[in-house]
Formats: sequence, structure tokens, C-alpha cells
Amino acid sequence: MSFPATHPNPTGAVPENTRLISAGEPGAIDLVCSVLEQGNTVAVPTETVYGLAANALLPEAVARIYSAKERPSFDPLIVHLPDREWVLRLCEGPVPELALKLMDRFWPGPLTILFSKSELVPDLVTAGLPRVALRMSAHPVFQAVLRQFAGPLAAPSANRFGRISPVTANDVREELEGRIPMILDGGKCERGIESTIVSLEGDRICVLRAGPVTPDELSAFGEVVMQNRPSESPVPGQLPSHYAPRKPVRLVEEGERVDANSALIAFRHSREGHVGPLEILSKTGDLEEAAAHLFSALRRADASTASGIVVEKVPPRGIGIAIMERLDRAAGKEANE
Ligand code: TXA
Ligand code: MG
Repeated sequence: MSFPATHPNPTGAVPENTRLISAGEPGAIDLVCSVLEQGNTVAVPTETVYGLAANALLPEAVARIYSAKERPSFDPLIVHLPDREWVLRLCEGPVPELALKLMDRFWPGPLTILFSKSELVPDLVTAGLPRVALRMSAHPVFQAVLRQFAGPLAAPSANRFGRISPVTANDVREELEGRIPMILDGGKCERGIESTIVSLEGDRICVLRAGPVTPDELSAFGEVVMQNRPSESPVPGQLPSHYAPRKPVRLVEEGERVDANSALIAFRHSREGHVGPLEILSKTGDLEEAAAHLFSALRRADASTASGIVVEKVPPRGIGIAIMERLDRAAGKEANE
């Protein structure tokens, strides 16, 4: 059924237009909060990637996230907090000592920690799992939204399910235009790669998704175990490949011979004779810079006229571990979100 543009959509669920609003515009935060308070979704900037936010305590609002993203409801969402007090409300039982130490060191910032969930957290948020993923973003614009909203916001990356995470407001439009009421433009995300996700098992820190907070940094707080299994979904390994461009992606060693016409995402240097589209992640070989450029480079290479994308591997240290995890998935080596 369709309605004239001026007629309010009685379902309220599928907006016909997506409004883009700049974070600098007067009243922007008020407007975003009024949309959130109505139980609707807004795409917001974080320091990692853009998230699609909705009231985490309202199942109808959370359901709108799943439907806009076409995300299967067995894949749980990260909850973003206005302040640390909310950990006490959303977590069942005492907060583990190790979690407190990690929060002191890395929050606000790109570290997501799993906690036993309290009754307050709707099952839809955790996809029925007993634990909830919590994080405090360091992005000043998202922080302003959370402060004013004064409650937790569930927010997965603001892409359609299985696609590359957005790092600009324009990327979000490509993904979700017409499916969500509003995008808050806070510029390009600084980190460019999603948060590190950890679960705490006694003194051990299990890394379920590699990210900007590196195993090295975590190892100051306990033994680090790399699990790279972000989802405890009932069908592990059966989700479609994630971070997937439409074109085939092939990974090569730095400097390895490649088809001169392919779209090349090089780590540091171009190659002699390469005529296809070219992206250089970091001329100085800086892995943080490479991470910040990765998803935009993949998006542009995917939109180019080349028939395939070739990406050079980066050294698997520091945030390079997270980059390689994303690249392995883009190349279809792993089939798990
Ligand atoms: O940087 C980020 O983490 C971004 C920004 C927006 O905060 N968010 C993000 O969310 O990447 P999403 O939904 O795209 O990825 C979250 C991952 C998913 O793979 C999900 O399965 C996992 O976290 N996850 C969430 N809650 C979980 C839980 N309770 N147990 C296990 N895995 C969980
Ligand atoms: Mg995602």
C-alpha cells in the first residue's frame, strides 16, 4: 500500500524520505532525540563507523533497526551508553573487576565488552543470548545525542546486512536511503573500522572481533585469547560473508604481480604499469591510517568499472590484525558476521 507524500504513514515504520542533518546545524541534537523518542531510528557518527541507533529499551524501536538493515534477528546488537552508571542497570550482578579496569583504560573508546544482561535489556537486543554487548563511544556528536537522550541506544553499523560498514554520511545514504528517517552527519569516522569486542572469562580476555584496541594493549590486563567469533548466533558460520563488496575480492602479498586492469587497493605503493583504479591505504605504511581508509577504498573500488578488486595484505600486527580480519571476510574466506 502506498500513501501520498503529505499523508502521514500510518505504520510509521518505513519513511519515504531520509533527512540528512548536519551535526553543526542549530537544533540538530534536539531533532535527532525527538526522532529517537518516537521509537524511530537515526544513523549517527561514532569514532569507528556510522551506527544505526534506536532506543535500546524499546523492542519496537529495536525491531526497526533489524528491518532497515534486513538483519536476521538472531544477530545481536551493541548497546551504547550515555555514562557508566548504565552498566550497573543493564548488567546482572556485580561488574567484574577486570571489566572495570578495561572501562577505566579504554572507555570512552572503541572497545565493546560483553556483560551478563539484566531484565531491563529486551531479548531482541541480544537475540535471546544471556549477555549484552556494551560500549561508550568517544565521538563528541554521538556523546551529545546520548547525553540528551539520557538512555542507552542500540546501534549496529549503519549498512545493509552483509555489506561494508559506512564511514561517512554519504555511505549511509548509499546503504539506507529511504529506509530510515534521519542521518546525522558528523563527518568522516576517525578510526574507520568497528570496535574490538571482548568477552571476559575469569582473568582471560577473549577477543571475539579484532578492532582498534589491539591484543597488545589488552594484554596489559590479562591473558588475551583470539577467538574472532563475534556472534554467538545459533548458526555460527552460516551467515553470508560479511564486508562483502559486489565484485570479487582477491588478497595478494605486497608487491605481488596483479592484473594491470584490476582495481588495486595497495598498502603503501602504486605499481609500475598499473592502469586500473588505484587506492593507496597509507603512503607512510601507517596501519591506523590504512584502517581509516580501508572501507572507503573498498566502496570506491566496488563502484569502479574494474571487474575485480585486488587488495594487498597488511602486516598482521596492531590494528593490522583487524584490517586482515575484515579483508579475509571481504575475500569470502570466513562466513560469519
Ligand atoms: O564500532 C562498532 O562496534 C560499531 C559502532 C556503530 O558502534 N557497531 C558495530 O555493530 O559494528 P555491528 O552490529 O555491526 O557488529 C556487532 C557485532 C555483531 O557481529 C554481533 O553479532 C556481535 O557484535 N554481538 C553483539 N552483541 C553480542 C552478544 N551479546 N554476544 C555476542 N556477540 C554479540
Ligand atoms: Mg556490522
